Amino acid sequence: MCGIVGYIGKQQASNILVEGLSKLEYRGYDSAGVAILENDNLDVRKYKGRLAVLQENLEKVPVKGNIGIGHTRWATHGEPSDVNSHPHANNSGNIAVVHNGIIENYIEIKERLIMNGYKFLSETDTEVVAHLVDMYYEGDLIDAVQKAVKDLEGAYALGVINKENPDKLIAVRKDSPLIIGIGEDENFIASDIPAVLKYTRKIFIMEDGEMAIVKENDITLMKTDGTPVEKEVYTVNWDVEAAEKGGYDHFMLKEIYEQPKAVKDTLSPRLNRHNEIKLDDISLTKEDLERFNQVYIIACGTAYHAGLLGKSLIQKYVNVPVIAEVGSEFRYNDPFIDEKSLMIVVSQSGETADTLAALRMAKERGARTLAVTNVVGSTISREADDVFYTWAGPEIAVASTKAYTTQLVSLALIALDMANKKGTISKEKFNELIEELRATPAQIEEILKMDESIKDVAKVITKAEHIFYIGRGIDYDVAREGSLKLKEISYIHSEAMAAGELKHGTIALIEDGTPVIALATQDRLYDKTVSNIKEVNARGAKIISLAKAKNTEISKSSDHVMYIPDISDDLSPILSVVPLQILAYHVATLRGADVDKPRNLAKSVTVE
Ligand code: F6R
Repeated sequence: MCGIVGYIGKQQASNILVEGLSKLEYRGYDSAGVAILENDNLDVRKYKGRLAVLQENLEKVPVKGNIGIGHTRWATHGEPSDVNSHPHANNSGNIAVVHNGIIENYIEIKERLIMNGYKFLSETDTEVVAHLVDMYYEGDLIDAVQKAVKDLEGAYALGVINKENPDKLIAVRKDSPLIIGIGEDENFIASDIPAVLKYTRKIFIMEDGEMAIVKENDITLMKTDGTPVEKEVYTVNWDVEAAEKGGYDHFMLKEIYEQPKAVKDTLSPRLNRHNEIKLDDISLTKEDLERFNQVYIIACGTAYHAGLLGKSLIQKYVNVPVIAEVGSEFRYNDPFIDEKSLMIVVSQSGETADTLAALRMAKERGARTLAVTNVVGSTISREADDVFYTWAGPEIAVASTKAYTTQLVSLALIALDMANKKGTISKEKFNELIEELRATPAQIEEILKMDESIKDVAKVITKAEHIFYIGRGIDYDVAREGSLKLKEISYIHSEAMAAGELKHGTIALIEDGTPVIALATQDRLYDKTVSNIKEVNARGAKIISLAKAKNTEISKSSDHVMYIPDISDDLSPILSVVPLQILAYHVATLRGADVDKPRNLAKSVTVE
């Protein structure tokens, strides 16, 4: 996730671009840059670090010009650095490009361009776009951009300017957000409305496959094949603060709603049309996998809960024992770890102290290490032998949501890839699970439609002092995540229990009206969980069940039921966590809690 802006008009582009980027920093803050055109000069300034670094440079050495593009980066391909920052230019420096998204086939295109004599400066996927436009440019910029995007697979919102066409900037969209701001004698492009709201409230919202030719006094909209497009002007009636949250009341809710896209962004670049997994980022071979006699999955909090799914899948499909443990315990438990061990660490921030300590311990003992993280260039990503990035985009709310679901799909891909390489999974099962993974973004969309009905459930438990989450197998893992989500933002005491363990103690706490959230999504354990539900029901508990859509009879033993679309037991957490996130969110807001910044918590825990 990155942010792009563009300006053409009578004012100094530099001020407007920086102002716009400041409203998009939530989309990434690894680096920022602008390219501004004046007469025959295309000036590109780009620096690693927050926008302030760019701003300082522009104050010291101002750049003039009334047309330009800008970018704020959330690194995906290539670590945060000046050279990997956008805009990217072609070799002669007369075309500049900003990009948000991921070009999935960039390696293939890069090889082709290198054979044609193009020189690459950065490690980014985006740089291919600047060279492609250059390759196709024969005096008509629109035609060159149209030809270039035909070659691209993946997601992109692009802004392109060219020295020889100082009267226009071109914007194209596929699977990454893009809007056009309509001004008076000036126009804008941006990833998101807040970037232009200071200047205009009139917007064109671009759809996939559309492009805009933006001039000072004219905007032409068309499909990338040249077919004209007519669009209604959308007038923004929210304030800037609300706009930064995309119209949502809180970042947490926005991030819950971003999950279909985040999951898709994490999955699609790693899957090709033949259902093959392509993990260019992981160098583990069949021989490596055969050598490992123990896998450790180490993480903290929500990331640890995601790790528990990794444990189930790797153990089941890769035929190797897996220990999943929280970092703070692992490091002091005298773990048996040696060169025959693989350690997978999971961390959104890539900076969590206990997870990092476990990684360092593994490396000292000669183990192989693999990090699953969201932050490119983070300490964990730099120190691990291999890194798999969850492409969730920046997560701002302290309570993790989209990072968790992208960690789940990442671990599923890693497990399936390992099993496939090692030959421990049948082709049929592999294909079945890949197809299921592909379906999850649309299924999460379906669950999001239940928001209002989940809010009604939330009203029933808002005043509770204690809430129990129960489940068996993988449901127990998700119950732990649901319970953590609720307690950290609503401050209600909640506990997750293995449903079969209830009668060994905890059931003593169930009394009339105690809410019990019962997860019953595992087909093979369904009847047993329903028995546990009946046990607590008989002691007066208020039952809120979570079940697959086919299991409607569960409503007979529940006060409320939240359904998820049918999915295999193995991958059910990707769906079952979503209603629990929404439930926690509504309970917390109904109680008036500060959802995005819960008390006593920090987004990144860099101390023990
Ligand atoms: C809870 C939450 C935390 C983090 C934990 C690890 O919503 O976000 O439990 O999951 O602090 O953080 P990372 O993933 O950055 O290592």
